[in-house]
Amino acid sequence: MGVSLDKFKLGFFPTPLHGLKNFSALYPGYKVFIKRDDHTGLATGGNKTRKLEYLIGDALAKGADTVITGGAQQSNHCRQTAAACNMAGLKCHLLLGGDSPGEHTGNLLLSNILGATIHYTGAQRKGEDMGLLAGQLSAKGHTPYIIPYGGSNIIGAMGYFEAAGELKTQLDQKNLKIDYIFFASSSGGMQAGLMLGKAMHNLGATLMPIRIDKQETEGKSLEDNIRDLVLEGIHTLDIQDTTSLDSTPMIRGYEEAGYGVVTRHEKEAISILARHEGILLDPVYTGRAFYAMMHHMEKGLLEAGTNVLFWHTGGIPANFNYAENLIDQ
Ligand SMILES: Cc1ncc(COP(=O)(O)O)c(C=O)c1O
Repeated sequence: MGVSLDKFKLGFFPTPLHGLKNFSALYPGYKVFIKRDDHTGLATGGNKTRKLEYLIGDALAKGADTVITGGAQQSNHCRQTAAACNMAGLKCHLLLGGDSPGEHTGNLLLSNILGATIHYTGAQRKGEDMGLLAGQLSAKGHTPYIIPYGGSNIIGAMGYFEAAGELKTQLDQKNLKIDYIFFASSSGGMQAGLMLGKAMHNLGATLMPIRIDKQETEGKSLEDNIRDLVLEGIHTLDIQDTTSLDSTPMIRGYEEAGYGVVTRHEKEAISILARHEGILLDPVYTGRAFYAMMHHMEKGLLEAGTNVLFWHTGGIPANFNYAENLIDQ
């Protein structure tokens, strides 16, 4: 394999897989299950833990002493990167969009508690200036390692390539067949990893990636980014049978309000799952993707009599930043 396999253990795996009995009763004709990557364990968990095991492993293998990454102020990726750096003995610099806020809540509060050095970057919320900062740190004698926006390069994607195999093993053990897998897709690394892992591990489910953010990253569409990652992965992993790789269309339409804008849809999804199953979603990613899944079942857009899986990717701390959008008035 052409990418580093130096993995640094950060989380607790396999994450639980279980049924949502009370919630499923609301949608006759469907049985709904959940994969709990909100329980990966890294400073309140989330999907980036799987990517960071490979990225931090690579940073250490390359002799880095400092990690740089970027995102929005409520970035789950940045919060988990700060925690991962502490476990690995690395310094962490975060480039966060916007200006220094009056109040620190949610992920931003946690990134502060975790001790990351935070740089506020105004309108740029996807780490556009990471290269510049790396140059400055190198000039001061540091060895920086840049983790791209969302941890979405081929190294990070390996975390979800592996996760597809983890899910396949769990399904085999439970003698369970899943027909659809819904998840939030934003910077694309999770989706690319799952697409590659699905092909490699014969995971016979249809992937249902819900687009969260309509803004491009560095002038490249999410679809192009994923396509390039998948092509790189086919080569890196030497995947021979690529037939199932073409069949993952991005599901659009739920991101129209904009990134991080919480509407009644996200609120409805969060409150339904919380009140039927005692499980918390987040307002930016999983709330949006879970609403999309509910909408698909409600409208009969999925084949009747099927098993549907929601892949919970974490993000719980962001709820605290959106209290006004989430409480019943
Ligand atoms: C909670 C949560 N879910 C899903 C995603 C999307 O994952 P990806 O960026 O790999 O598409 C993110 C990304 O930040 C996230 O924080």
